[in-house]
Amino acid sequence: MSIKGHQNGSRKMAFATSGGLEVNADMLSKDGADTLRERIKKSIDRLIASPIFYRFSVNNIFTRWFAKYRTQQVFDLMTGFVNFQVLLTCVRYGVLQRVYENPCDLDALIKHIQLPKDNLDRLIFSALSLGLIELRSHNRFGIGPLGLPVVTYPGISSMVEHNAVLYADMLDTAKLLNPGKASQMNEYWLYAKYEDDQSVEGENLKSTSADLAVGIDKQMQFAKYSDLMSNSQNFVIDEITCAYDFSNHARMLDIGCGKGRFVSALAEMYPELEFSMMDLPEVMNLTKQNLVEKSFVNRINLVPGSFKSDPLPEGVDLITLVRVAHDHSDQVVELLLKKIYQSLPSKGTLLLAEPMANAKGAKHDAYFHFYLLAMGEGRLRTPEQLTQMIMQAGFNQVEILSNPMSMHAKVLVAKKY
Ligand SMILES: C[S@@+](CC[C@H](N)C(=O)[O-])C[C@H]1O[C@@H](n2cnc3c(N)ncnc32)[C@H](O)[C@@H]1O
Repeated sequence: MSIKGHQNGSRKMAFATSGGLEVNADMLSKDGADTLRERIKKSIDRLIASPIFYRFSVNNIFTRWFAKYRTQQVFDLMTGFVNFQVLLTCVRYGVLQRVYENPCDLDALIKHIQLPKDNLDRLIFSALSLGLIELRSHNRFGIGPLGLPVVTYPGISSMVEHNAVLYADMLDTAKLLNPGKASQMNEYWLYAKYEDDQSVEGENLKSTSADLAVGIDKQMQFAKYSDLMSNSQNFVIDEITCAYDFSNHARMLDIGCGKGRFVSALAEMYPELEFSMMDLPEVMNLTKQNLVEKSFVNRINLVPGSFKSDPLPEGVDLITLVRVAHDHSDQVVELLLKKIYQSLPSKGTLLLAEPMANAKGAKHDAYFHFYLLAMGEGRLRTPEQLTQMIMQAGFNQVEILSNPMSMHAKVLVAKKY
């Protein structure tokens, strides 16, 4: 970079040049700092993107790490879908379970997979490259560091299978970005149907013999998504119970409670706490079956209904919304938050927990943004956006709690004075 001086009218100006970068006095005033920053950024981008810089950084021992790191990041972007398909195939054909239970050599593994033999070695070596399986002594394959959580947490393998539904929609993201599109995810999450499709909740409440087949299909679908939620909720429950002490509450209402895993965990931890639970009637049938034999069942009040159209049960000092708000449009969430505010007594508390966006964009935000888009009207929101919505509903104070693994969920606690 060189610094030069020159006359321009009556003003003395200075500018620096380096690969097209020019700095002059105007830039240093008013919005100048921003413009200058932009120009510097552009010059750095141009430099980094140039083939000469790439060759230099690859050949230089001090900069090679950077070239490798950036190249690896681009590869990760390009290979995401294929990597997932390898994982899915391994889960579907029991590859991970097989090597977890009993490490074995290539021939034994190929024999285990119920597919034509040709090319199966490619699947196995792909799984090896992704850390799903690993090489052990005597050329045997064992479970790898990334395969281990998949076989040991049922929630992860259920999500892998479920991701296949999402990825089918992801084949045409342009279509998905158009409002009013149909998607497999929208079919999967029955309650996520658009507002103008009023049939979903009503239809299930009063299945007639004429639509019995459809009703049974839908009942199975309610069971399917409720099982998935139940299997994957443990990680979220850990985050909430690490971050919040429930011992100051007497009775809580869990809205969108699913099959009741969260309430079950709290019932074990807090023997004095009593519960109301609300979900759609089809889900509450499953909740009832799930909880009927639990020792704490007499502390639970089940309330089938829709938070959109039914009153919320009263007499609670805490309301929880776990992975519920992000499934719905701003309009629905605003109404729900107002309803919650009105039904709570003074000094009542709202606890809202779900995956949230990072204002600067965390890597996995993209997944949730498109997941919720494919699902219907849901939105990934930042803690700040949700805080604003909660305050607008009437709450006087909102706190963003800190929890160890915020990619599973962040936790907001709001107080009504
Ligand atoms: C993503 S699941 C979360 C379930 C559970 N809280 C969890 O974290 O596993 C959303 C839940 O909200 C329920 N839900 C959706 N719309 C609802 C409505 N209008 N009224 C009551 N519950 C509703 C669904 O049936 C489902 O059980």
